[in-house]
Amino acid sequence: MVPPTATATAPNPRVGSPDGPAIKDPAKDTILTPRFYTTDFDAMAAMDLRPNEAELEAICEEFRKDYNRHHFVRNDEFEGAAEKLDPTSRKVFIEFLEQSCTSEFSGFLLYKELSRRIKQKNPLLAECFAHMARDEARHAGFLNKSMSDFGLQLDLGFLTASKAYTKFSPEHIFYATYLSEKIGYWRYIAIYRHLEKHPESKIFPIFNFFENWCQDENRHGDFFDALMKAVPSTVTGWKSRLWCRFFLLAVFATMYVRDVARKEFYEALGLDAREYDKYVIAKTNETSARIFPVVLDVENPRFWSGLEHLVSNNDQLTKADESTAPAPIKALRKLPYWIGNGVEMARLFLMAPIRSEKYQPAVR
Ligand SMILES: [Fe+2]
Ligand SMILES: [Fe+2]
Repeated sequence: MVPPTATATAPNPRVGSPDGPAIKDPAKDTILTPRFYTTDFDAMAAMDLRPNEAELEAICEEFRKDYNRHHFVRNDEFEGAAEKLDPTSRKVFIEFLEQSCTSEFSGFLLYKELSRRIKQKNPLLAECFAHMARDEARHAGFLNKSMSDFGLQLDLGFLTASKAYTKFSPEHIFYATYLSEKIGYWRYIAIYRHLEKHPESKIFPIFNFFENWCQDENRHGDFFDALMKAVPSTVTGWKSRLWCRFFLLAVFATMYVRDVARKEFYEALGLDAREYDKYVIAKTNETSARIFPVVLDVENPRFWSGLEHLVSNNDQLTKADESTAPAPIKALRKLPYWIGNGVEMARLFLMAPIRSEKYQPAVR
């Protein structure tokens, strides 16, 4: 797939130089690593926003205010902070920075390309995307700067050109980005509030920035909420009910499996990965009920035992990957767990969802 042509942030001339931070090899792409997206730009440009234009205009006006213009400024607290981390926390924290930076950057690329490609035909939408690209570039840049405190930096230009792009229709982009913005909000705010109560677990000063940061993500999520209301077919009818279930499950399951596999990072913050994810999933599900026609029954214990099944399959897949066996033997060992994951995802998908009309008195 042809990647978007949006230019990445200007390369840091010190990167790769003898005294500059080393360029970190991007993490291997797996089903659990953040993806880059592209979409049908003509369909997006042709969208008629009139059914909810006033709300979109109001959100755009909020974006113009650029509340976090002066927020992402590094202070003295960063000086020497990286050296204070013990080796285990350091390793898992760098992984966290890399993954977060890649996700933020993925948002930047998509929003930037959308704003550029639909500018002529759909100026209001283009302007909103440009403001969101501005925010995501700031987030990614701030995370990447923290990576350089550890002597590493992601080569975002290389990532732009080399990573595979997944193409989604506009409505699927709405579901996926709405969820990633809202889940991002709940993830950041949950960590921020926890560390407010347990300052002794604040392993790096970047967490001080999470409160205002997550408000950006919340506004981005509200923008997609308003956009789906402008195009009511995206959140009405049986097709949208099936797709919303699918995206909720895919996003929740991926996050749960990934976070449990990296539970050491949460432990370093004094959090239990499972408890943290349960909270974030429940909150994101509840928020999604304001716009999605259905949400998942996350109070059903069957939902969590299904996710645990995916976790144990994932452990076995990792073990098989780490073995020194030849590739065909590895593939053979992995096959039952891949099948197991497929069956479990199908079971979870078929669980009765919750209709969310009662949470949306004014929507439709
Ligand atoms: Fe962001
Ligand atoms: Fe965002």
